[in-house]
Amino acid sequence: MFPIDKIRADFPILNRKVHGKPLVYFDNGATSQTPQAVIDAIVDYYSNYNANIHRGVHTLSQEATDKYEEARIKIQKHFNAKKAYEIILTAGTTESVNIVASGFSSLLKKGDEVIVSALEHHSNIVPWQMMCEKNGAVLRVIPMDDKGALQMNVFDDLLNENTKIVFCNHVSNALGTINPIEEIIEKAHKVGAYVLIDGAQACPHIKPDVQALDVDFYVASAHKICGPTGVGLLYGKEELLQLLPPYQGGGEMIETVTFEKTTYAGLPHKFEAGTPNICGGIAFGAAIDYMNNIGFDAIATQENELLAYGTEKLQEIDGLRIYGTAKKTAVISFNIEGIHPYDIGSILDKLGIAVRTGHHCAQPIMDFYKIPGTVRASFAFYNTKEEIDVLVAGVKKAKMMLS
Ligand code: ALA
Repeated sequence: MFPIDKIRADFPILNRKVHGKPLVYFDNGATSQTPQAVIDAIVDYYSNYNANIHRGVHTLSQEATDKYEEARIKIQKHFNAKKAYEIILTAGTTESVNIVASGFSSLLKKGDEVIVSALEHHSNIVPWQMMCEKNGAVLRVIPMDDKGALQMNVFDDLLNENTKIVFCNHVSNALGTINPIEEIIEKAHKVGAYVLIDGAQACPHIKPDVQALDVDFYVASAHKICGPTGVGLLYGKEELLQLLPPYQGGGEMIETVTFEKTTYAGLPHKFEAGTPNICGGIAFGAAIDYMNNIGFDAIATQENELLAYGTEKLQEIDGLRIYGTAKKTAVISFNIEGIHPYDIGSILDKLGIAVRTGHHCAQPIMDFYKIPGTVRASFAFYNTKEEIDVLVAGVKKAKMMLS
């Protein structure tokens, strides 16, 4: 039995009310909630050993450095990277993608091709477009179908010897589709292309093994996995991280500096200029521990039950269409015929229910379906069927008020 009451008690925010109603938090795709163990790690850092890292001989600095590097090792183990220095701690998924895209700006040339999927978040489209504008590389797109799955036969046709890098999300943030990344990686490697997988929406639900996947780059954010905002990771194979130029210049990322020439530090510091988000990194480690203590099999079972129940109940509402029916994580993106998603979201908020509405930073998906946006309910392991009943009643009420 999934210990749901015990788990919910770990999240203080789940006790609060919104507009006088118990909070029903279904915006986990935007950010997850924070368990007490992670809050405690943050308070402990600022209460007991707040200091800059890699810079001091004093005790506080050494304690902070040790904890930060311990967190990197927890993250390395979680993702099964070969080396701890293949884990670059960044400000989040967006920064991680930008480090790789900006690095490839100088490595690609006119006529090279890069492939992106139609299911991407803007953060995995715009940096590559900016890169292509700089070096004349060509951006190609794997199209999607009506179910929200990628058309993999077209991917086969897009791949050729000019393809240099393929980037795709592991899970679509707007629809929840789980993409066939194993197949994408294998096929891309056959033509000699590198692959970056954006795992921001997968990591709350799936434990990725970067060595088994043989992926070149994998990126994610702590705040979707019960950690704090402002911290994430860039995993890269050692030889590729060596190949990429530094992203930012500054302290920490150098070996020697003179006015004539600077030499750069080794990994991971080459990509970690300036004082990092020390507390965030340590709390990211605490979040990884928290999630692993529950276990990703148990998390998947609980979330799949919520997805099946929510899909069945919402589908009973006349005029409600769910977008994205391929194999997916616990996300239900929907609209009600003739009603704008913002209006439904606003009424749900008055009932204490938090969902995301709009294009979800994935405008090409909305264009594909010819809609302005959707209402997105994204579930986490701490949600319950009773909360889904509240959502369904809320959607019915919104429909009645707005029709
Ligand atoms: N990328 C986040 C989402 O999908 C913010 O809501």
